Amino acid sequence: MKTSYKYLMLAAAVGLAGCQQESDQPQSDEQTVVVEKKVETKKDNKETVKQVKRVDEHSYGNIDEVNLHHFDLELTVNFEAKALEGFVDLSFKRLTDDVSELVLDTRDITVEKAQQWVDGQWQDTSFELAEKDADLGSKLTVAVNDSTNKVRVYYKTQPQASGLQWLTPEQTAGKKHPFVYSQAQAIHARSFIPIQDSPAVRVTYTANLKTPKELLALMSAFNEPDTELDGDYHFEMPQAIPPYLIALGVGNLEFKAMSDRTGVYAEPSLLEPAIAEFDDTERMVQVTEEMYGPYRWGRYDLLILPPSFPYGGMENPRLSFITPTVIAGDKSLVNLIAHELAHSWSGNLVTNATWEDFWLNEGFTSYVENRIMEELFGEERATMERALSVQGLRDEVKALPKEFTILNVDLDGRDPDDAFSGVPYTKGQMFLTYLEKKFGREVFDAFLVEYFNAHAFQSLTTEEFKKYLKKNLLDKYPDVVSPDEIEIWIHEAMLPPTMPNPTSDAFTTIDAETKAWLAAEKSLADLDSGEWTVHEWLHFINNLPEDLSQKQMTQLDKAFELTDSSNNEIAHAWLLLALKTNYDAVMPRLETYLVSIGRRKLIVPLYKQLMETEDGAVFAKRVYKMARPGYHPLAQGTLDEIVK
Ligand code: BES
Ligand code: ZN
Repeated sequence: MKTSYKYLMLAAAVGLAGCQQESDQPQSDEQTVVVEKKVETKKDNKETVKQVKRVDEHSYGNIDEVNLHHFDLELTVNFEAKALEGFVDLSFKRLTDDVSELVLDTRDITVEKAQQWVDGQWQDTSFELAEKDADLGSKLTVAVNDSTNKVRVYYKTQPQASGLQWLTPEQTAGKKHPFVYSQAQAIHARSFIPIQDSPAVRVTYTANLKTPKELLALMSAFNEPDTELDGDYHFEMPQAIPPYLIALGVGNLEFKAMSDRTGVYAEPSLLEPAIAEFDDTERMVQVTEEMYGPYRWGRYDLLILPPSFPYGGMENPRLSFITPTVIAGDKSLVNLIAHELAHSWSGNLVTNATWEDFWLNEGFTSYVENRIMEELFGEERATMERALSVQGLRDEVKALPKEFTILNVDLDGRDPDDAFSGVPYTKGQMFLTYLEKKFGREVFDAFLVEYFNAHAFQSLTTEEFKKYLKKNLLDKYPDVVSPDEIEIWIHEAMLPPTMPNPTSDAFTTIDAETKAWLAAEKSLADLDSGEWTVHEWLHFINNLPEDLSQKQMTQLDKAFELTDSSNNEIAHAWLLLALKTNYDAVMPRLETYLVSIGRRKLIVPLYKQLMETEDGAVFAKRVYKMARPGYHPLAQGTLDEIVK
């Protein structure tokens, strides 16, 4: 990525948010933002220029000149060509007088024609597609004359689109029909729609998707629960969302309701198991509403994706995308649903303005997720989940480049996907937990409700958040937390000494039992493991020493059948430990695991560990060759770098 500038958001006010807002969306009249632009041409050049504009270094979009606020999409889903084909009409408003072009983001998109709407008809206009940047894609510049406020772009996606995965029938659960789905976050919407692909932009949309007749199409929009299969689907999204939340999925999908407003879409064989696993969803929506105000998006449905989905979940509005790898049979991993649902407040309602503010999105969501879990499953489980996350974070920061341990991370010249880690999630969550402890839950809850209301349907920078926090919490309750402490949390590397350290009594008991076993004071049969929950097993495995002998590993496996665990998180933890201790009996299971799952969080650490030894690398290369065609382009990208 070639960026010669670094942009620092200063007193940015509200987003360039969409204009066609629903009645419950507070409208703001402040449309411009102040940005300080620091020119970094030379090290010693400290020149700063104040401008009235907001810039996102991960978008070519001229968002300081043009406010894209709505699009209408017409696409045919062509499985043979692995392409979306059609056009998009982009509606915009001018923020300045002398606008002569609309600048968009694209990646691997074939642009056929551009038109502008002038005097009641479409007129061809010129466009230029720049050379591709490895991280940002290709800038698309469309010429516009003074009187137009709508542009049409005819285009086709390419089979390698980073934001789409095209699955053959063999790669689906039912094996009979193809499947395609999108994953736009962070900057992949541009690989299937030419758009100003910045989270500072908010758009409403309509879409028509043409698909093979027997397949169902869904989008991050209103999905009619009893839609008839006819290969022609219409969608409306009347609430303004950032481009990274545009999503579609097409496959042999069936729907089943869980309540009036919640339900599951899945391939037929997965529908019942998914319903059984996730039937607390309605209660989750209710408890979140009680804590943080109304759910503002109408329906809340889940789309269960094939196991190659590279994430656990994705909070696409009205329709969270969910990995099937959390269907454990015992609801042990449903914090994922709490998490994606929580984004309906923290993230989808109040969005990060740039990817450097990503912690505002995931940190708040991890905090809300855990509050939902506490309401539904009690304090003990919520504490265990926090303790597991914090231990994971402490281990992870040891290996991370120091600059990636900062909440308000500097992404200058970097792909936002490269800075992905537990830091924005768990350090962010612990920052809010810290504030909650300092100010008390009642005060902090009231603050959060107000925060969500005040910024609903807007995008926010870290600096804006800090200003809001100071005015509405720190100054209101003086001498509780100093501004310096806030600076340390948000801008300093590593983990602050004031970070809460969640501890669970159950985990402390397990630590003592583990110690007794290692000291040969207790046998495995004597451990009180009969009633351990998945979280306790995870804590147990994660805290076993890495120098366990083959004999000890064999004993563990015999006693607890860990290699055969059907819980994907437990299997992951055990397989990782097995690689670290050279316990080869797991290798066949590891192979099946790596070939059947494409969720990055579960497979990347295993490949990395394999590459540490010569034999492991041989195994990794062989298995990766088999597994790669089934992985999502994003997982392929990550793993191509690791398995060389
Ligand atoms: N929005 C994220 C997934 C994401 C982040 C996709 C960044 C692309 C770029 C989603 O909400 C998420 O955080 N998923 C987690 C869930 C977990 C924390 C419960 C995941 O996928 O593991
Ligand atoms: Zn998230």
